[in-house]
Parts: sequence; structure tokens; C-alpha cells
Amino acid sequence: MEIIILPTEEAVASRVADEFENAIRNAADGRITLGLATGSSPLKSYGELVRRHREESLSFKNAQAFLLDEYVGLPRTHEQSYYRFIRDNFTSLIDIADDAVNSPNGEADDPRAEAIRYDEAIAAAGGVDLQILGIGTDGHIGFNEPGSALTSRTRLKTLTEQTISDNMRFFTDGETVPIHVLTQGLGTISQARRIVLTATGEGKAEAIAAMSEGAVSAFCPASVLQLHQKVTVVIDDAAASKLKLADYYRFVQEKKPLV
Ligand code: GLP
Repeated sequence: MEIIILPTEEAVASRVADEFENAIRNAADGRITLGLATGSSPLKSYGELVRRHREESLSFKNAQAFLLDEYVGLPRTHEQSYYRFIRDNFTSLIDIADDAVNSPNGEADDPRAEAIRYDEAIAAAGGVDLQILGIGTDGHIGFNEPGSALTSRTRLKTLTEQTISDNMRFFTDGETVPIHVLTQGLGTISQARRIVLTATGEGKAEAIAAMSEGAVSAFCPASVLQLHQKVTVVIDDAAASKLKLADYYRFVQEKKPLV
């Protein structure tokens, strides 16, 4: 894992946006498949990409996208559906085609069949070139909660009480937070050719340390990324505060060979 520690949330967002921009500009005709994550972590990065689209002609017109996950039972029009979240915060603000943005259908009559369909759709599209990820406080990625098989495929999952309570803040009073979700599996996510995980704030420090310096274990689902060849972790000082090797990671960045 390449671990990049930066002083501010803005610097983190800009670095993540650089990864996207380089990937898009290096892809022939900008034909790229992006894996998009919801949550607050990538929001500033999406904002920076929207700015580059508007002010620096960064185009997504030949890109397609696959979302990581979706709540079961929420229509795409619901404010907290992940499809709607990505639309409102990112894809409706850039020039990607509407029908190029794919997500698991949380309203499917048969969620298990929908999970298989979605996994196959990602493969049929040629797989994800660049996946952005956040991380849950319990070390989940997508909605792969602790205990998820490291080779799991897209499937129906039940959220932990911790995640339900973490996500409660997004729902209005009296609304029931969904407890079932469809999520790309850890095996599915691991097939992305390149992965950028971003996190900021002290609340994520423990999860970041477990992910990158702990054992590879289903107990910390994000630790599966230790087995991937091209992962970049872009975090701020606070999220890095529990890393034992933080000084070394900073040293590596400082002394990065130019070739
Ligand atoms: C949800 C999403 C994850 C996200 C996590 C962290 O559980 N399924 O993809 O990484 O929340 O969210 P936040 O970035 O808001 O802390």
C-alpha cells in the first residue's frame, strides 16, 4: 500500500482528484470505468473533480461508473439512496451520461438475484479501472461488515448496529434506517485494477491502522487491500494518528524517487 499523509482535508481531496484526473487523461479517449463510493469521505474529492470539469475541461463523457452499494428498500429517488447521493453530489454535475452510472437496484423483488446480476454487469463492462473507497469506523469497505469473506462477491448483507448508528445522522427523525444492503463483495472490489481509499479525521484513525498495519482478516474487511498490488491510501494527519509507521510513510513520500 502506498500511504500518503497530508495536512488538510483540502489537500487530501486534491490528491484524490489527481488520481482520477491522471487515470482519465491516460485512458484512450477517456474511456474508463470508475468505481464510486458514497459517504462523506469522498465528497470533497468529488467537489474538486466537478471544479476541474467546469474550469479545466476534465471530461467524463466517455466514462462509465459502478457504485459500490445500495440500501435495500430505498427507491432511487430517496434522498439517502446511494444512487441519488452520487447523482446529487457528483454525476449530475459532470458530463457523464446518465445511463452510464450503474448501481445495484435496492428495490429489486429478488435482491439475491439482483446482486448476482450486478456482479456480472461489472465483469461484462470489463471491470473497474479505478475504484475510490471510504472506510467505516469498524473497518468496512462498501458495506462489507466485519466477518465478510475476503473473496466475497456482490450480495445481500445485514448492517452492524455500529454502521446503522453511524449512518443514522443522514436520515431524518422518525425515519427507519435500512438494515439490509446490496454491496459489492471484497472479492469484487479487489478486482478493480487500481484502488484509492480516502479518510479524514480521528474517528477513522483506528480503522486505518487496523487496515494497513493489522493482520489480514475478515475482522477488518479493509485489510484485504493489503493483498492488492495497486492501492493508494490518501489520509489526513488525524486519520494517520494511530499508524505506527506514519513517520516512515511521510519519509517515503518526501524521498520519492523521481524515476
Ligand atoms: C458507508 C458506505 C461506505 C463508506 C462508509 C464511511 O457505510 N457504505 O462506502 O465508506 O459509509 O462513510 P463516511 O465517509 O461518511 O464516514
